[in-house]
Amino acid sequence: MPEAWRPPAVGRGIVLRAWCGDDLDALVEHADDAQVSRGTSDRFPHPYTREDGIAFLAGRVVDLSAPVFAITLDGRAIGGIGVRTLTGERRIGAEFGYWLGRRHWGRGVMTSVVAAFAPWAIDALALQRLQATVLDFNHGSARVLEKNGFVEEGVLRRAVCKRGAVHDLRMFARLRAA
Ligand SMILES: CC(C)(COP(=O)(O)OP(=O)(O)OC[C@H]1O[C@@H](n2cnc3c(N)ncnc32)[C@H](O)[C@@H]1OP(=O)(O)O)[C@@H](O)C(=O)NCCC(=O)NCCS
Repeated sequence: MPEAWRPPAVGRGIVLRAWCGDDLDALVEHADDAQVSRGTSDRFPHPYTREDGIAFLAGRVVDLSAPVFAITLDGRAIGGIGVRTLTGERRIGAEFGYWLGRRHWGRGVMTSVVAAFAPWAIDALALQRLQATVLDFNHGSARVLEKNGFVEEGVLRRAVCKRGAVHDLRMFARLRAA
């Protein structure tokens, strides 16, 4: 039985909640966009088919018993955010990721979502550090993190091959307040 997480309030009409089967149409509509998936991991494919959406909503792509939430506006999913605790001796840390449908970019939505989600995740999962990795070209995502108190710790050089091109990966983290 998955644990029911109570996500943090965001404001501005944006609500985080668990994904549900009814999100399929909205998920595929927003996720099937090369501009969205170019910044994400390959677990987020392109093209993004209905079968991909069904697999995600069934919990076959990421563990939906972890804090993995739909970002909704007026009840409709417009993106997602999720965190995965690291394992073994790294279990004091976690990595999170997020995406937003292109129609909603550039309005401060993800800055607001991360402002609520990051401190909530650090508390809820009793973390010492919350980290995110950002592809070298993804300045918007880096800005979202910087505006929310994440510090760039270094660059994993030539760490990722995305769509045939080699990229550096920037490591950002925010620590539990001392
Ligand atoms: C990255 C992403 C989440 C940003 O979401 P958003 O809601 O558009 O971001 P915001 O509107 O909160 O903008 C945050 C800051 O980034 C800046 N920014 C946004 N897009 C940018 C871009 N393409 N280049 C440079 N800066 C950008 C904004 O100007 C703002 O900074 P400012 O307040 O100093 O002006 C969104 O573009 C997205 O979903 N991209 C595809 C998926 C992805 O890359 N996910 C992250 C994986 S690490």
